[in-house]
Amino acid sequence: MSCRTSLPAWQALAADAENFGSVHMNSLFAGDEQRFDRFSAQCGGVFLDFSKNRIDEGIFQHLLQLAEECEVAQWRDKMMSGAIVNPTEGRAVLHTALRDRSKQPIEAEGEAVAPLVSAELARMERFTNSVRSGEWLGYTGAAITDVVSIGIGGSNLGPLMVTEALKDYCDERIKMHYVSNVDGAQISQVLSKLNAASTLFLISSKTFTTAETMTNARTARQWLMDQSNGEAQAEKHFAAVSSNVSKAKEFGIGEDNIYSMWDWVGGRYSLWSAIGLPIALNLGFEHFLSLLEGAHEMDQHFATAVPEKNLPLILALIGVWNSNFLGMNAQAILPYDQNLHRLPAYLQQADMESNGKSTNWQGETVPYTTGPLIWGEVGINGQHAFYQLLHQGKTLVPADFIGSAKSNNPLPGHHENLMANFFGQSQAMMTGVDLNAVREQLTAQGMDKESVERIAPHKVHEGNRPSNTLLMDALTPKNLGALIAMYEHKIFAQGIIWQICSFDQWGVELGKVLAKAIEPELAVDAEIGAHDCSTRNLLARFKSLQD
Ligand code: F6P
Repeated sequence: MSCRTSLPAWQALAADAENFGSVHMNSLFAGDEQRFDRFSAQCGGVFLDFSKNRIDEGIFQHLLQLAEECEVAQWRDKMMSGAIVNPTEGRAVLHTALRDRSKQPIEAEGEAVAPLVSAELARMERFTNSVRSGEWLGYTGAAITDVVSIGIGGSNLGPLMVTEALKDYCDERIKMHYVSNVDGAQISQVLSKLNAASTLFLISSKTFTTAETMTNARTARQWLMDQSNGEAQAEKHFAAVSSNVSKAKEFGIGEDNIYSMWDWVGGRYSLWSAIGLPIALNLGFEHFLSLLEGAHEMDQHFATAVPEKNLPLILALIGVWNSNFLGMNAQAILPYDQNLHRLPAYLQQADMESNGKSTNWQGETVPYTTGPLIWGEVGINGQHAFYQLLHQGKTLVPADFIGSAKSNNPLPGHHENLMANFFGQSQAMMTGVDLNAVREQLTAQGMDKESVERIAPHKVHEGNRPSNTLLMDALTPKNLGALIAMYEHKIFAQGIIWQICSFDQWGVELGKVLAKAIEPELAVDAEIGAHDCSTRNLLARFKSLQD
């Protein structure tokens, strides 16, 4: 297997970076009225403008050539047809099949996938409707009003992000609560507001062995028993989502209340499976289906759109250009929508757990950077916090600006103000303002010459900072589904280009193993084991501070 750095396209891009990498975008825009048309693309209600990147036609063509030489399209087809594209775990990767309601005949490990998906969707629908309609009754005969979703990582971030994002579609029939942290603070706060008689717990864990989730599930079960004086029957208050049905049964959840997922659904790609039940319970099943529909539309787009208009592929290539060739190893996610406030956290797992790796498919260390540092915040709040660094800092951070043309909460003046900032910020990152222009502005404001010279350098914005703009018609379930799927496929395409295994997560294991060894050592009488002197002394100090 040849290293990506020896590919003709990689070498052409390295030369491009030498020759054109520092060309200011202002000069690329000057006199080129076609730039926006050429460097923009659309899928359904999601529009992408990628013209505010340091690319010209030649660089873009080399990026497309890189995708071709890396056989991204062939790998995409393999993934979508059920081939083993998660080699270190020996699994197919078929989250796309979860949202394909056309029931294409795809097999994973010799088993037809569509019937499994349809059957589970039908079970999810019945469950959702019975809880939402008040048919599902708790131990006193009261209808369910509150659902507590207990899960962490991929079994939490997707449903939480989506139910927050689509709050405006929620009819308040069922209130959702989430518990992910094993810190007792979170579950205590959630339970303190609830009535056991009308509360249902949904334990979401692909493996059903995740320590944090199991600890929280046991605490929830004990709380239910305590609150009901031992009268509550678990089957009226507990349901589970897992690929490990036997473990869920061992915990005491009846088989009828266990919803399946499969090995070919990765945790961080699982919100489309029964892991998405919190979404359906909170918003209604029809909205969950719209989410799937939007994602499927993006899947089709990824599979069939020409490369130069293919949103996920373009985003992947721009990301590779920025990080591997221009040395920008971070990516800001900036939603201009309050309800998308959990999107940066969601994408942190999706991207960093997928591509935060340094070993290629052959087990060799790759000689280039891989997944960037993903971070972000709701844009308008970020402006008053960290945008200073985005505009004038020494670390260059490409940004994705995400917003909608129509507001779901159209108060007079609000959306215009929000979106004026949305457009203004990416423009400022791109154009900047040079010393002469600053001098002129300050002089025009009546500042004396000496002050102008002293202050002006501080007000220079060099600009030329890359960004993508994602403008949706509106934040609807369908558009959100498409947006999430777009990022999933971007991450996939980058993993292929970097030759890394995007669908495993061995990097989270070592810390877990060490924590398991340390936990018993925290008991008052237990001995502290052989650790480095930092860890040993911290443990000793921790223990000495217990009452
Ligand atoms: O620790 C990482 C991880 O394995 C994630 O990949 C996963 O989403 C999360 O833990 C939760 O795992 P589970 O659904 O098996 O509880």
